[in-house]
Amino acid sequence: MLSKEDNEILTHSAAGTPMGELLRRFWLPVLLCEELDAPGGTQKRVTVLGEDLLAFRDTNGRVGLVEPVCPHRGANLYYGRNEEGGLRCVFHGWKFDVDGNCVDLPTAPCHSNYKDRIKIKTYPTREAGGFIWAYMGPADKMPELPQMEFTLLPASHVFVSKKWQDCNWVQCVEGAIDTAHFSFLHMVIPKEGQDVASLLQHAAIGSQSVKNDRIRWVQEDPRPKFEINEFPAGLTIGGARIAGEQDLYWRIAQFLAPNHALVPSAFPGENYHGQTWVPVTDTSCWIYNYTWNPDRPLTEEEREACRKGLTVHAEIDENYYPLRGPHNDYLIDREAQRQGSFTGIQGVSEQDAAIQNSMGGIVDRTREHLGATDIGLVKFRQYMLKRAKALASEGQEPAEPGCAAHYAVRSGGWVADAGKKLEQVMVERFGHPYGYVGADLRQAAEKVQS
Ligand code: FES
Ligand SMILES: [Fe+2]
Repeated sequence: MLSKEDNEILTHSAAGTPMGELLRRFWLPVLLCEELDAPGGTQKRVTVLGEDLLAFRDTNGRVGLVEPVCPHRGANLYYGRNEEGGLRCVFHGWKFDVDGNCVDLPTAPCHSNYKDRIKIKTYPTREAGGFIWAYMGPADKMPELPQMEFTLLPASHVFVSKKWQDCNWVQCVEGAIDTAHFSFLHMVIPKEGQDVASLLQHAAIGSQSVKNDRIRWVQEDPRPKFEINEFPAGLTIGGARIAGEQDLYWRIAQFLAPNHALVPSAFPGENYHGQTWVPVTDTSCWIYNYTWNPDRPLTEEEREACRKGLTVHAEIDENYYPLRGPHNDYLIDREAQRQGSFTGIQGVSEQDAAIQNSMGGIVDRTREHLGATDIGLVKFRQYMLKRAKALASEGQEPAEPGCAAHYAVRSGGWVADAGKKLEQVMVERFGHPYGYVGADLRQAAEKVQS
């Protein structure tokens, strides 16, 4: 449970709020690259952290993210022309480049330098991993892009998508790091002799990697024991379930500050998945999803499965809105719910969305009754509130933006001897207590740390 005040600090992200300022210290995905495909193509409205912005790709291929209000008399540049090297307001022809400079002011006298004093507000952008990222914080605090593994791989190894969600971003993050809910929300109840993995596959809530044993362990032990370790970029959240007499089945998620989480399912060789939640308003967000394989290109079959909404991806329309959403009660099938699907809703992503949205735009955390399996999200809240308050009251900058190399971590599953601590399990599974990827990146991260 949280106080009303802390719930507000945690969930409000407008400029000037403690969490809003904290989020503005980090690079955030604001579009998929595919949304601004051609140089000189159509600009796109974007709302991020409550700010209405306009994104465009200029004729040189550079991406601008600008305040859409023309400084002349306030016309909206959404209606402007994306011309050679800049966006021109159609009211009186003032033209701006991706850095916000006024590069043409045709209404001023010929020899006037008036245009040199005119600027529009812009935010720096980068493209990596199929996302357009923006930095909305103070210029002198701009960090490197976080080196998340999927952003470092060739495009052939990665599939990215996004989907709309009608609730506050924090309850989505909490859903992702609360890995205990897998024993219920995403479960199926097989009939005698029925194969669980194929049932999950059929219900489009499993992946090819679903294995009967893992599903059985998750089903049979709904009380995972959690161990949580802090590392320079976030929190490692390990949930251990009984797997036979001697062993524990660990599902290890990674929370990466401020708004990313990596899924705890992958065993070595399998595809990895993660999500990033970016507030639009305080009661809506875009969820950016990524699936990657570090060792090989994804197959066409795997890409098609992602498009069809397997794992973290949802089935979406051309505007990235889920086909099964609150507008149609997620097409809940009560008969399927009676016959073996725990929810009667198709798709892991849709099941998560249904429940997270059902809690309201911003869930009232003063009324909760938390238990032992909620420890991951309790730590997450403490982590975020501590940093937001320290920045707001003491001007203490968060350390994580300066730890770009530490974002190169993996999450995943492992079966280990029951006597092992999370740190030992991480070394067994990933070769490193924080789950760093590959020797090169490990060295880079250690260098940053020292
Ligand atoms: S309002 Fe944009 S040029 Fe006049
Ligand atoms: Fe879930």
